[in-house]
This record gives sequence, C-alpha cells and structure tokens, in this order.
Amino acid sequence: MQIIYYADSGPVEQWLAELHTALPLADVRVWHEGDTAPADYAVVWKPPAAMLQHRADLKAIFNLGAGVDAILQLGDALPAGVPVVRLDDAGMAVQMADYVSHAVLRYFRRFDEFDAQARDHQWRFLKPRRKEDFSVGILGMGVLGARIAEVLLSLGFPVRSWSRSRKEIAGVQSHAGADELDDFLAQSQVLVCVLPLTPQTTGILDRNTLARLPKGAYLINVARGAHLVEQDLLDLLDEGHLGGATLDVFREEPLPSDHAFWNQPRITITPHISALTLRGDSVRQIAAKIKQMERGQPVAGLVDRTKGY
Ligand code: NAP
Ligand code: GLV
Repeated sequence: MQIIYYADSGPVEQWLAELHTALPLADVRVWHEGDTAPADYAVVWKPPAAMLQHRADLKAIFNLGAGVDAILQLGDALPAGVPVVRLDDAGMAVQMADYVSHAVLRYFRRFDEFDAQARDHQWRFLKPRRKEDFSVGILGMGVLGARIAEVLLSLGFPVRSWSRSRKEIAGVQSHAGADELDDFLAQSQVLVCVLPLTPQTTGILDRNTLARLPKGAYLINVARGAHLVEQDLLDLLDEGHLGGATLDVFREEPLPSDHAFWNQPRITITPHISALTLRGDSVRQIAAKIKQMERGQPVAGLVDRTKGY
C-alpha cells in the first residue's frame, strides 16, 4: 500500500514514523511537487492543488483536522470520486470543551473585569451573576459542539444549540435552520461558534447576527476566522452592545502585529490552539480507518461535499 503525506507545517519525520508504525506494511512517503507515482491514500493538511489533481487512483484523502474548508477550496482540483475523510474528534473535543468552558467561566465570574481593575490597582466589588441568566448558545452541534454542551451542562449553565438538523440532546434546547436563528440568538448570553466554514456560514458572525444577542453578550469563536466580520465586532464592542470576545481563529493567521484586535482590551486572542491535532490519536484513527476501508467497511467522518463539511 502506498501513502502520500503532505502538511504545510509540523514535524514531517515524526508523522511518517508514526504512520509507518501504525501501518507497517504501508510505504509512506512525503509528497513533493512532480510526484505522480501511484498512491492508495493521501494524508494531508492544507495540500496544494498539484498534489491531488488527477489523483483519481486514491481510495481516500485523510484530512489532518476536523475542518475541511482548505481541501474543499481546491474545487475542481479535488478528484471527484475520491472520499474525503476528516478527523472525527481524535482528542480535539476535550480540548475544545476545556477552552470554551474556561472562557465561559471567566466571563460568568467576571474575571475579565477583575483583571482590568487589577491593572488599575482597583479593589471593587462586582455583582455576581446567576447561571440561570447566563445561557450559552452553541452554533454547530456536531462532534465538537456536543462535547462543549456536555461540559457546560455539567457546570450548570443553560445550553442551547443551533444546527441544520434538530438535535435530541438531554438538557440542550435545540434550534434548527435559518428560521430559528433569531430566537436562538436572543437567548444566548454567550455565543460560541463551532461551525464548519462553508459558503453558507462565511461571515455569519456579522452585525446582523451579533446585534441580535442580548446587550452585554460575549462571543467565543473557535471555528474559523472567516466566520467573523471583524469590523462589525469592533463596532459592537465600541458601542457597548457586546461585553467581550475570545477569539482563537482569524481571517489572517498569524494575526498581523498591527491588527486592531490587539488594541481592543475586551478581545482575548489565542493563536489557533483551542483544539490541536494530536499526532498519536490522529494516526491511530487514520490507520484504523484505512484498515476498515481495506476490508470494505464504512468509516466515520466522511465529508459530504455538497454540504461542505
Ligand atoms: P461537525 O461534526 O461536522 O459539526 C458541524 C455542525 O455544524 C453540525 O451540527 C452541523 O449541523 C452544523 N452546521 C453546518 N452548517 C450549518 C449551517 N449552514 N447552519 C446551521 N448549522 C450548520 O464538525 P466538528 O468536528 O464539530 O468541527 C466544527 C468545526 O470546528 C470544524 O469545521 C473546524 O473548522 C473547527 N475547528 C477548529 C479548531 C481550532 O483549533 N480552532 C479545531 C478543530 C475544529 P448538522 O448537525 O445538522 O449537520
Ligand atoms: C483545526 O483548525 C481543525 O480544523 O482541526
């Protein structure tokens, strides 16, 4: 079996070694420009079009992340009949749930405001909030959203979700489709975005959406930078409609050093770390799926190209 590997960053030799250990009979090689030798599987992160173009020989393309926007953007360069398989949790859900819970608790307990006071040497009481008034709305209730919801519920927060299809998750108020978005937003004191980036969700976090949140609401974006219309967020923070934002993803990454977000004290910035691809978990998952495919069995995490995720 021949496997070609490409990632735009990261320790190539370690990925190759772990893939080889998990699939000892496979010949795993790094793909380089001009490599058109036969291959059965591709394991990729942000591959160039030239790697996958004309690769109708592949049995599957494995994406080294949950989001497949970078692959699907290749458009016609992506061979039509070849299945694209994304990472399905692989250790990311627990990281994402930790990140989001930390941000929600920070806003709930007003640590952002206490931090600001401490910088000015101020000792001032701030009224505590009640969890029942601090409902968290999660945009996207897939693999990651469901885990975030579970942890927030265990912490006692009211949780609602918004997705394409309605969900039946104990304790979560499910909203589905465009018709139910306004109702969802009006009741979300914290809005968490964990949607895939598709033509339908690009720019969804704009003034129109964010202004429908209750006054003083918070935004947590752990999905993709292009979900957010950046100037709209800055305006709504300046106008006092939003209380703060925690952003892990940006339209341009790394975030340029002169970007206005760095100077807005109500924005907390992290460098796309909310849920990292874990090499061991990912290799185990991909190897298991390759073995399933070789046996003719179905695998989880198949991407629906018409939906875009
Ligand atoms: P997933 O399992 O595919 O879940 C996607 C969810 O979004 C589903 O509930 C889906 O609804 C919903 N959705 C998609 N399009 C929609 C639309 N137009 N309207 C309403 N709901 C829509 O994906 P996942 O594994 O949870 O990952 C989500 C995203 O997180 C990834 O695509 C990636 O971009 C991002 N991510 C970021 C990081 C990071 O470090 N920052 C790490 C990992 C992933 P249905 O359930 O009805 O289909
Ligand atoms: C990371 O951003 C991912 O999509 O896995």
